[in-house]
Amino acid sequence: MLHIDIITVLPELLVSPLSHSILGRAKDRGLLEVNIIDLREYGLGRHRQVDDYAFGGGAGMVMMPEPLYACIQALRSERTYDEIIYMAPDGELLDQPMANQLSMCANLILICGHYKGIDERIREHVVTREISIGNYVLSGGELAAAVVVDAVGRLIPGVLNDETSALFDSFQDDLVAPPVFTRPAEFNGWKVPDILLSGNQGAIDTWRHDQAVERTRQRRPEILSDE
Ligand code: ADE
Repeated sequence: MLHIDIITVLPELLVSPLSHSILGRAKDRGLLEVNIIDLREYGLGRHRQVDDYAFGGGAGMVMMPEPLYACIQALRSERTYDEIIYMAPDGELLDQPMANQLSMCANLILICGHYKGIDERIREHVVTREISIGNYVLSGGELAAAVVVDAVGRLIPGVLNDETSALFDSFQDDLVAPPVFTRPAEFNGWKVPDILLSGNQGAIDTWRHDQAVERTRQRRPEILSDE
């Protein structure tokens, strides 16, 4: 069972991506629990303030340390976290090995930043890991957090229908996936490779592996391990 708490100022942004069928099934089966926490509940004063101007000036607001800290302390009083993760464009790049590793955790916090980001003291003293989903800047960490939950959630044993299927994902063995085909066997004069219709499973497995290697060499040579 993996429990993920997501801290956000825009909970609405997370509802739809996280109600997706695969993750919904994971939740129904009690394999994954995702809890969205509205940081404003920990905001300061009558206006439930969560951000303020940056010391030193400059455009853009910074998320204040007190609401984040209060929220994280409240969560920590309930469970022990494997990682407290801040979603940030300058974090470690998410990849399949990282997703595998996170899927074996019991409790995670994902902090979604907004505006100019969160006060550096929270990053320094509270956050244990920072993750980026790619070398581009999103307007907030929510969509990045949804990507992490999806990539990690589907790896929990029992979440996918065919339990073995994640094993054959692109990247899982340093190869991208081979091409796939379905009916009809001929469409617009475009034919499915004969081998796939041959019924010879051994030959099909070999063909798929060769295709995966060739595709990886052509498209993503940087992930190919020396075999
Ligand atoms: N927040 C803003 N941009 C991001 C990115 N690329 N990855 C993770 N969090 C982000």
